Amino acid sequence: MPIGVRLEREERLLTIRKAKLGDVPDLHRLINYYAGERIMLPRTLTDLYENVWEFTVAEEEGKLAGCGALKLYSQEIAEIRSLCVDAALKSKGIGREVMECLLAEAEGFGLKTVFALTVAPTFFEKLGFREVPRERFPTKVWRDCLRCDRYASCNEKAVTLDLADRPVHLPDSATETAEVSS
Ligand SMILES: CC(C)(COP(=O)(O)OP(=O)(O)OC[C@H]1O[C@@H](n2cnc3c(N)ncnc32)[C@H](O)[C@@H]1OP(=O)(O)O)[C@@H](O)C(=O)NCCC(=O)NCCS
Repeated sequence: MPIGVRLEREERLLTIRKAKLGDVPDLHRLINYYAGERIMLPRTLTDLYENVWEFTVAEEEGKLAGCGALKLYSQEIAEIRSLCVDAALKSKGIGREVMECLLAEAEGFGLKTVFALTVAPTFFEKLGFREVPRERFPTKVWRDCLRCDRYASCNEKAVTLDLADRPVHLPDSATETAEVSS
């Protein structure tokens, strides 16, 4: 169900919702822009079509403003991946809103822990994550890192959040408007 979020500092209405198949070309463009900057892993169109259900997107005036995905590894653990915001819309709270939806989704699945590999650990730490050794997540290292051409010179940090430590997130009537579902 879409959620309308009015951001605190600006009169802008974002819709946060699960991705649809029609979002895939825009997801591909946004993620691979950052892959080109060498700060995210690239994703192919085929990969995105296969895994589009993992994505939550932020949409503003009909345009993709940001995205993030929840990759399930087991009954307990999932990865936050491909989290990014349109370069022109950074630092407006969009990344935080996408993350809050992904964490709520993780809680809904009954997961215990989420983790990410990122070049922006400070952003994650502001949302309650803490830095840990990358080897804490061997499946991720085996599946993605060992195949990555930057494995030997990787500058990504592993960050993790135990969902039990997450404060109960009550809607703030000052910043989050009523749902605008249709
Ligand atoms: C990282 C990213 C998703 C953050 O999204 P955003 O919409 O710009 O961030 P927000 O405005 O929601 O910021 C939330 C908080 O994190 C801080 N923050 C955001 N990006 C940050 C960064 N790169 N480094 C340190 N702090 C950061 C903000 O200052 C803000 O702090 P505040 O609450 O004290 O004001 C976005 O900048 C991005 O797309 N970066 C490129 C891709 C990337 O690095 N993705 C990370 C996952 S691999």
